[in-house]
Amino acid sequence: MNTAEPVRELTVVRAEPEAEGVLGITLADPGGGPLPEWTPGAHVDVELPSGLVRSYSLCGRPGDRDAYRIAVLRVADGRGGSEELHTTGLTGRRLTVRGPRNHFPLVPASRYVFVAGGIGITPVLPMLRELSERPDAPAWSLLYGGRSLDTMAFRPELSALRGGEVVLWPQDSHGLPDLDRALTGLPPDTAVYCCGPEGLLEAVRNHTDRLLPPGSLHLERFHAPDRPDLPPTDGGFEVELHRTGTTLRVPTDRTLLDVIRDAVPNVPSSCEQGLCGTCETKVLAGTPDHRDMLLTDEERETGTTMMICVGRSRSARLTLDL
Ligand code: FES
Repeated sequence: MNTAEPVRELTVVRAEPEAEGVLGITLADPGGGPLPEWTPGAHVDVELPSGLVRSYSLCGRPGDRDAYRIAVLRVADGRGGSEELHTTGLTGRRLTVRGPRNHFPLVPASRYVFVAGGIGITPVLPMLRELSERPDAPAWSLLYGGRSLDTMAFRPELSALRGGEVVLWPQDSHGLPDLDRALTGLPPDTAVYCCGPEGLLEAVRNHTDRLLPPGSLHLERFHAPDRPDLPPTDGGFEVELHRTGTTLRVPTDRTLLDVIRDAVPNVPSSCEQGLCGTCETKVLAGTPDHRDMLLTDEERETGTTMMICVGRSRSARLTLDL
């Protein structure tokens, strides 16, 4: 579990629209103290006034220890988190914030291409800021699509960036983003970063699979992709919670997280789809059956953690540091 992660109460010092349907929120330490450092691509978990926990990418300036900035798209038919933030008077409230944590870091490359759709611009913006302020930064370009210009956040900040190419692509006037232009003719050690709706991610994946070597594409997802349910293949297993001193049976019709909550009701989670890392838990013994969208193959091979919201077990018993 990310028990070593900083958890703190922060005050909402600003909550104002960044674009149509997008609320920008600035959080600061109530005593004015410095906040933990973070790197571009990082996100925090925010506990909403109702108790829901949601993950949001940090979109401010990484060197700014005075405040964290996030931006929230209002999703009327979502799981309720964005609706709550958009309709609650937030300024002056204190919210519990866990993290930051980064599963979408900027890796070294000789060229960068960023493709963002809608609110997917949030993790990308700090990356662009970092590159635009680095004197020796490699060439970079951004293709930023949105339903219309009015819905596209951070346009003034993007136009102030230097050293790269920013292409805004409002779909009401331009149609679908021109991925061929953005992704054709690139050197093989290009890093492509994409964050946005699932359709955009798949389209970018199709292009990079054809045009660039494996490993070139870095994705940040909002939702797990539609895929046939992966049925449990374990026939059930036992989970030993080392610190709690409890052993529980995980049947095929319950998730590991669900069962663990019987003994540890406040175990943190957010997306419960294997996307955010909030439930990342240290494995002390046994072989996890990883089913998340976060860990790389190498991390699965050599790492010692798993996402307990979707992960299961390949061994008859799993011992977790809980
Ligand atoms: Fe998000 Fe498990 S709760 S990865």
